[in-house]
Amino acid sequence: MVQIELPVVAINFKTYPQATGERAVLLAQHCESVAKEYGVSIVVAPQTPDLYRVSRAVDIPVFAQHMDPGAPGRHTGHVLGETLVEAGCSGTLLNHSENRMILADLEEAVRTAERLHLYTIVCTNNPTVSVAAATLAPSAVAVEPPELIGTGISVSQAQPEIITGTVEKIRAVNPDVTILCGAGISTGEDVRAALDLGAQGVLLASAVAKSDRPVEVLKSLVEPLRDC
Ligand code: G3P
Repeated sequence: MVQIELPVVAINFKTYPQATGERAVLLAQHCESVAKEYGVSIVVAPQTPDLYRVSRAVDIPVFAQHMDPGAPGRHTGHVLGETLVEAGCSGTLLNHSENRMILADLEEAVRTAERLHLYTIVCTNNPTVSVAAATLAPSAVAVEPPELIGTGISVSQAQPEIITGTVEKIRAVNPDVTILCGAGISTGEDVRAALDLGAQGVLLASAVAKSDRPVEVLKSLVEPLRDC
């Protein structure tokens, strides 16, 4: 299993046109150069068709945005763990609010990823669901209130109790799983607030993937991580 250094900033490219195809490669290279310059941990999650080209172009960890359960064979259109490994992935997001999974499939995907040494970040929408996700023993849980996603209103500023509640509830059942948070994270202050509330990193998308000046935004985001 790849070791992800904490605190981490994970950038989900979603399906933003500015982070698609060759632009995904360029954005991942920007993430890599900022990670190296600032000595911080950045993970990128491009779309499935871009995983191979991005993983060939950068040394920072490349994650898929989703993985289906199931063994290689008769699964037309599915994204399997074995294929992600072949594509150069180090891990995958699972159960993102824009691509929810049923519990049985989520559990199977976590176990398959574990067998394949893929790092798993299971996304959740609130503290209670975060605890349920933590009992599956993924590598990380990322709590993201869906109503703040893509708004630029940061969970760490607008709904700090989602983060503190998640940390408190998860730690009661699982001392080891990494806890991330996301939704609306746009600035270094948002990242700092998330860490102060007990998160070990952030998951974000639009602030970087939609920006005309992604390098500037990335630098501002990781500034608080320099002294961690
Ligand atoms: O996966 C990250 C995401 O859902 C948060 O999106 O655009 O609010 O940073 P955004």
